Amino acid sequence: MSKAKAADIDFNSLDFSYKDLPYRYQAEYHNGQWEPGELTTDSNVQLSEAAVVLHYGQEVFEGLKAYRRKDGGVNLFRPDRNAKRMRQSAERLLMPGYPEADFIEAVKEVVKANSDFIPPYESGGSLYIRPFLIGTSPIVGVKPGNDFIFRIYVTPVGAYYPGGLRPTAFVTSEFDRAAHGGTGQAKVGGNYAASMLPGEEAHRAGFSDVVYLDPREHHYIEELGSANFFGITKDGQFKTPKSPSILPSITKFSLLELAEEMGMHPVETPIGIDELDQFEEAGAMGTAAVISPVGSITHQAKKHVFYSETEVGPKTKALYDRLTAIQYGDEKGPAGWVV
Ligand code: COI
Repeated sequence: MSKAKAADIDFNSLDFSYKDLPYRYQAEYHNGQWEPGELTTDSNVQLSEAAVVLHYGQEVFEGLKAYRRKDGGVNLFRPDRNAKRMRQSAERLLMPGYPEADFIEAVKEVVKANSDFIPPYESGGSLYIRPFLIGTSPIVGVKPGNDFIFRIYVTPVGAYYPGGLRPTAFVTSEFDRAAHGGTGQAKVGGNYAASMLPGEEAHRAGFSDVVYLDPREHHYIEELGSANFFGITKDGQFKTPKSPSILPSITKFSLLELAEEMGMHPVETPIGIDELDQFEEAGAMGTAAVISPVGSITHQAKKHVFYSETEVGPKTKALYDRLTAIQYGDEKGPAGWVV
């Protein structure tokens, strides 16, 4: 793949895809400690054929974004939360977390080095930042190694679901995303590998993505594709599922605070798939998805339509506007969110 050139990119029609930018950041862990990291230009990672990540999936990752402000400056949104979540994910897979302060500095360094690729404010795009951590020791038996690579690449992106704020159609899956007590709360690559088949089946049936139900009773909503779910009740309450196997989404926690600020009495609570009638609006939320309105959920061949299959609802739009205004620096948010 040849290196991307900023002049060749149409920032107004970006999709959610990888471009090989000039710089990435890499640090290695050997002999019980992290070595100093640095920017590198090589987009390939060299590994032993026996590297534990290739066979047993010892990998965790993160996703965050850099936003170009109207005044030309650049914002990061809550990178401290990604740093912390990555350390927690790493602990679940017995990997040494990358120190949180170093994580934030590394993110800043790689964003600055590729700053020509941060989409302009007017485009509505952003620079997606993908930190990841892999086990690299050559190991045949199933056990953790002693060598690790922490790396961050960045790529300019537009909307995750094509159409952006246009509602999308979801369908429940017979597959489970993660077990209670499994790795659902950690941002582990394997969770996403397991989601590819259900995702493809949903696409083939004409849906945008899958609604995962809980792994015990197959009754409570867990996640939507790779994003968290929210619904807004007819009397304006913001509800999002509570479960031990969903990913603790930073966008979710941010929207819980913004919904409180907006008088929507937010609550995290189990939400049954037979309880959709209570909702006037619904959406998917995550770093990649931002807020994507959910037009409908089909469960056991029955389609439940929320606000509209073609228009975003007013409360979903208000949450989207407030969140993105903070991220792009148009409005002030809670202290410490924007760096
Ligand atoms: C994100 O929202 O950053 C994610 O990690 C979703 C991704 C798997 C596309």
